[in-house]
Amino acid sequence: MSARVDALLERMTWEQKLLQLQIVWRADTAIQHDLARRGIGAQFWPPSVAAVNALQRVAVEESELGIPLLVALDVVHGQFTIFPTPLAQAASFDPAVAAADARVSAAEARANGVNWTFSPMVDVTRDPRWGRVVEGFGEDVFLSSRFAEAKVRGYQGDRLSRRDVVASCLKHFVAYGAAEAGRDYNTTDMSHRRLRETYLETFRAGVAAGAASVMASFNALNGIPMHANTGLLTGVLKDEWGFAGVVVGDADGVAQLVDHGIVPDEKTAVARAIEAGVDVVMGGSLLVDDDGVAVLTPGELSPARVDDAVRRVLTLKERLGLFENPYADERREVRSATAPARAHARAAASRCLVLLRNEGAVLPLARGAQVLLAGPFARSTDHLGAWVQSFASPVSQTLADALAEAMTDAALEVADGADVFAVSEEHLADVVGRAARADVVVLAVGEPSALSGEASSRADIALPAPQVRLIRAVAATGTPVVIVLATGRPLVVEDWVDEVDAVLVAWHLGVEGPAAIAEVLVGRTNPGGRLPMTFPRAVGQVPIHYDHESTGRPPRTGGRIQGEAHPGLAGPDNTDDYYTSKYLDLPLGPRFDFGAGFGYTTFALGDVAFGRVVALADLEAGATIDVRVRVQNTGTRVGDDVVQLYVRDEIASVTQPVRRLRGFTRVTLEPGDATTLAFTLGADDLRFWTDDGTQLLEPGAFTVWIDDGVSRVHARFELTQREDAA
Ligand code: NOJ
Repeated sequence: MSARVDALLERMTWEQKLLQLQIVWRADTAIQHDLARRGIGAQFWPPSVAAVNALQRVAVEESELGIPLLVALDVVHGQFTIFPTPLAQAASFDPAVAAADARVSAAEARANGVNWTFSPMVDVTRDPRWGRVVEGFGEDVFLSSRFAEAKVRGYQGDRLSRRDVVASCLKHFVAYGAAEAGRDYNTTDMSHRRLRETYLETFRAGVAAGAASVMASFNALNGIPMHANTGLLTGVLKDEWGFAGVVVGDADGVAQLVDHGIVPDEKTAVARAIEAGVDVVMGGSLLVDDDGVAVLTPGELSPARVDDAVRRVLTLKERLGLFENPYADERREVRSATAPARAHARAAASRCLVLLRNEGAVLPLARGAQVLLAGPFARSTDHLGAWVQSFASPVSQTLADALAEAMTDAALEVADGADVFAVSEEHLADVVGRAARADVVVLAVGEPSALSGEASSRADIALPAPQVRLIRAVAATGTPVVIVLATGRPLVVEDWVDEVDAVLVAWHLGVEGPAAIAEVLVGRTNPGGRLPMTFPRAVGQVPIHYDHESTGRPPRTGGRIQGEAHPGLAGPDNTDDYYTSKYLDLPLGPRFDFGAGFGYTTFALGDVAFGRVVALADLEAGATIDVRVRVQNTGTRVGDDVVQLYVRDEIASVTQPVRRLRGFTRVTLEPGDATTLAFTLGADDLRFWTDDGTQLLEPGAFTVWIDDGVSRVHARFELTQREDAA
């Protein structure tokens, strides 16, 4: 409760209140200033610090109440200094990477007058067709939740009134990542249990970390579009979780309730949305029209709900210190990536690369090797990824330049000429001819940034055919081939992956991406990322995720998941076991599993050791079970291991995932060095949701796997109701 907010609310007219609940964009400067003078609540960033200060000055000095503006911008993985895409960041299995991005992004944005970012996106998704997978942290709820927390804390710092932080926004609430058929904006429909377990959880974690705002999603869920979903926006988010921040509608999402076909017109749409719990409407002039007239009367929209929404907006402005410091310091304006910011981006990019294949240890490139670099990403500057805007700084170097600089002992030749969607016969012949004379060919291939992101779903997630032709033609020369795979999403790589020697997933790593890739190729950095999303064998397997449930007829062999999840059942092919959950035309399991990846050294995992296994009642009271494992670098290079802890509840009253991630640690070890990693399991790690909205923790056997993407060990413990029952 704030005296200032109370006093303002007392004085405000109905129109002034409604204006605070509107973000207007797509308007020219004169209209923006006019709206600011009338008391509009928020604007998109007018792109310069001078322009934003001019606008703030109108709001503060020329409007009747002098309320400063929220100035919003999507700063998703950098404004000027572009970091790896969020999906790439998740591959680091190191939330500090996301925190560093958020800190640099917030400082750049706030210095220029932005005080509210529409980020992080915390939509869990299991469908790589959906282009927005690039904006989130992948398929796993535990990993995504830890990244959500890191990003919120990074953006917001220890208090919002600091001059180098911004308010964050968890989006898109909720289940947007479950769009049917992976088509953006499409309908979602799911059990309450899955909604709680998987899709709500990242938001719950982000809210608990202090996120200042939450954005409603475009999708309908179980028949109710999220912009009108009272049960979730108000019931769960605000009432159950106690979220006291701002709920913002997505761009035109309120008006689109008409297109969803649940209201006849925009006037009814905005009334429905505000009553459901949306506080701020993005786009259009739905609450107050262009002539400054309120669209709805107090009879049509509950004044108490409007007061609550206005209070949330004003409170955020107060927390941001905008009443005291509405203006940005124009001497601190940022116009492009600075050297220190680039250094952070480089360090982040270095941690996100994932090595999925390295036959004959072709990587790192041997000293003295004759290297041919080809492929459409060899000289491309398209490494920034989706969700960057016109003011993003360009990449510091192309891969060709970065590799030439990094390769001190080897000779580099570059074959220019391949395009992402076209490789001419002449170019193909040229690369093949030069490949035959090289010791190793590095092919930088992939999906351009524009193929992922919003409204960029793909039905076919293979590489464009000309690139596949290039790969296969070069592989046929017999010269070892290293693939550097630039991509916004998991791809289907089936038609070439067995023919190449190495695969390094390079995502879209931002301004320092090429430099980070080059350092990994020459071995100056040891790749240590792991996949945050499954790479399927075929698009027909999608949606696919490692934490699927047991069926009554699980396949008895195949990929890592099935083999380990049913210890003792792993065997040869299941050809004599026809009636199992499989495809007739595919081997079992994905091509590359969630959590897969390795580096240039080797690690050995010791046995899983449990501390005292307390009883269920003690877990409920807050006790935890310690899990320890020793990990040793058994190779000859320093490197990072990503040690992942998975749990399975063996017998439960509701079918359980074959395993669920419940801990991870990325550790750097010198050759020969060992360390013991400790994890803890608490009640929340072992509980599950039922469909009637309750959470259960049941006694019985639990299996714990420790897995580093290469090898795995497991052990079981028995959870008893009470200690004396043991
Ligand atoms: C629509 C997108 O869904 C959302 O993520 C974004 O924040 C808004 N546009 C504003 O740019």
